Amino acid sequence: MARLRLGVLISGRGSNLQALIEACQGLAFPAEVACVISNVRGVQGIERARAAGLPSVVVPHTGYPDRESFEADLTRVLYAHGADLVCNAGFMRILTASFFEEWPDRVINIHPSLLPAFPGLRTHERVLAAGCRFTGCTVHFSRPEVDAGPIIIQAAVPVRPDDTPDTLAERVLTEEHRIYPLAVRWLAEGRVHLEGGRVLVSGTEIPGGALVNPAG
Ligand code: GAR
Repeated sequence: MARLRLGVLISGRGSNLQALIEACQGLAFPAEVACVISNVRGVQGIERARAAGLPSVVVPHTGYPDRESFEADLTRVLYAHGADLVCNAGFMRILTASFFEEWPDRVINIHPSLLPAFPGLRTHERVLAAGCRFTGCTVHFSRPEVDAGPIIIQAAVPVRPDDTPDTLAERVLTEEHRIYPLAVRWLAEGRVHLEGGRVLVSGTEIPGGALVNPAG
């Protein structure tokens, strides 16, 4: 069966990209990375793509008069590489409604919190300031609102009393690298269904596809 072709959008380090690359290197994995696009030049994620022998393209958002023309070029590059699904992996640009019209329910994102709590930036700092006992990460279908959309999978991470934003980020990131490939696998296997604005995942014992990691 044809593998699902991923267009991965990044802006920086690319550790989630790396997790996807490594998952896709598994012969039985039902997806492959078709291309990597960064809106920022010289980032580590582009090096990771090159090291894996994958096509990478830099589309600097600064070169466009408006978001729509930037996004039209993203779409051109994605189509040129035969992408089926757009995976935002630390892609730090807001995408407008016209991009989502081009890619209906075909854009997913990873965010380092248990959405809908703490969308946006400086997540771990805000989690600590709020005194949360648990945080985590979420893979979800993207919508034009920042870090919003139907949840595909989440992993929970306990907050420790001595956590700093950095220690928390590190433990959450480990879970991000686990759940992003899993979400892609479920999508590629056709097991992810949108019903009434919520995601149902067939073939998992876990209702709604939520994944809690009791071991933390
Ligand atoms: C990740 O923690 C990802 O969840 C977050 O940016 C980081 C990118 O790291 N994304 C967001 O905050 C989206 N709102 P990476 O480049 O090493 O994958």
